[in-house]
Amino acid sequence: MQQTNYSLQQVKESLLTAWEAAWDRGHVDSLDNVFHPDFQRISNKSKNISTAQALKQDILTVREAFPDLVTTIDHLLVDESKESIAIFWRTNGTFTNDLQGVPATGNSVETRGSNLMKVKEGKIISEEVTWDQSELLEDVGVPSLKSAFESAENGVVVDDLSGVPDLAALKGFNRQFITGVTVVTTKDECGKPRGLAANSYVSVSLEPPLVLVCVQKTTSTYASLFKSTHLGINIMSNDQRETIGVFASKGDDKFADLQWHEGPDGSPLLDGSAASIEAEIKERFQAKTHTVFIAKVKHSEVAELEPMIYKAGRFFDGAELQAL
Ligand SMILES: Cc1cc2nc3c(=O)[nH]c(=O)nc-3n(C[C@H](O)[C@H](O)[C@H](O)COP(=O)(O)O)c2cc1C
Repeated sequence: MQQTNYSLQQVKESLLTAWEAAWDRGHVDSLDNVFHPDFQRISNKSKNISTAQALKQDILTVREAFPDLVTTIDHLLVDESKESIAIFWRTNGTFTNDLQGVPATGNSVETRGSNLMKVKEGKIISEEVTWDQSELLEDVGVPSLKSAFESAENGVVVDDLSGVPDLAALKGFNRQFITGVTVVTTKDECGKPRGLAANSYVSVSLEPPLVLVCVQKTTSTYASLFKSTHLGINIMSNDQRETIGVFASKGDDKFADLQWHEGPDGSPLLDGSAASIEAEIKERFQAKTHTVFIAKVKHSEVAELEPMIYKAGRFFDGAELQAL
């Protein structure tokens, strides 16, 4: 039999069997039956090009997060003249386990996409997909910042590093930036107060009253914060040097030796702070290692206390500033 002597209908049938086995049951090696050895997957969104091996790993990662995932093929079009197959699909599943550092919500999620597959020698040689994991995160309600899923390893999308300073230079730059310092707080699922030191606080706008804070996903406070509807932000006063030390480190009960009270929506607000707000979390943008929380301020308290100053790893007395 000649290599080109195959029917696209047969390819389509094998594809459907392999697709269902891989996506709905996790038998990813079944894709080997339908993929050409030179198979490439091209994401229309990110322009990333990946291999069959990377696709298999992606499927396993998604299935781990959505173990009950079920795919429905809405349309499948075969174009004999172009030797191509187009699939329009949707999947449903429950967000049961964390995905790319995003804590699981337990919500049902539907996501949709289409794949345009090119056939060569009876096998799928390439597919263009409208969908990738960043889109799935958008479907679970967590949009990612554009570059979050770019990866130099995939070959095509490579961050342009020309002109970018090395890490030491960037650290040097950051050390020249003077900030205040805050403690960002929330409560965990058992109602226990949680919090961490953060100087990434930024006032976004006054109308509407939006604020921003970036939190590293590896912190122990992160998952509780991610799942919360509200958060507290406390600007440290001069008298809270010890307190900031507690919240900048790990500890099972950082609130044990503190006086604090609840905001109207239950967020812990630290007594003795220069100022505190409680805000409703509106957005949770994924930025690889961090999540950028944007929140709308609902309540504020301002004290007659001087704020603490933070510069280059050290804390300073906010009452000692001299006007220029
Ligand atoms: C001055 C200062 C500012 C900090 N800013 C941030 C920040 O903006 N975001 C963040 O994720 N961690 C920040 N950290 C680090 C966390 O406070 C630190 O990792 C803490 O141990 C996390 O606690 P947790 O793991 O118990 O939540 C900062 C630390 C200090 C001392």
